[in-house]
Amino acid sequence: MSRIFASLILAVGLSSALAAQASGNPTKGEEKAKVVCAACHGAHGESAGPDFPKLAGQPEDYLQTALKHYKAGVRRKNPIMMGMAAGLSDQDIADLAAWFTSQDAGLYTKY
Ligand code: HEC
Repeated sequence: MSRIFASLILAVGLSSALAAQASGNPTKGEEKAKVVCAACHGAHGESAGPDFPKLAGQPEDYLQTALKHYKAGVRRKNPIMMGMAAGLSDQDIADLAAWFTSQDAGLYTKY
């Protein structure tokens, strides 16, 4: 009986681990970010200007979800970012999110 219970707990634990988003390698993310994303979002996600959202310090799962939505064309349908995300693998997305989330968001106030 307790064995069945233990395997049930194990099965539940495993499936929730699989459902969680993979976490990436920030060093690899930095390399990719410098080549592709930096022109608009800045090499550290600080953004090149008000037309481009800051990515620095944003939560990792938020960044991953946003990129997956652009890639799939669901919920977020921005033509620029759809093009950017189209060629990214799940690993690329995880690496990029790990890089930008590790960067200092700083504090911006207008006054
Ligand atoms: C040519 C300029 C450009 C490039 C290059 C670019 N982006 Fe973007 N990105 C944008 C714009 C514009 C938006 C806002 C789109 C919108 O309104 O949905 C955006 C939005 C995003 C968002 C959502 C931010 C938020 O706060 O919700 C993420 C995440 C993102 N970009 C990641 C990336 C990554 C990673 C790369 C490199 C692979 C990249 N972008 C390359 C222009 C760019």
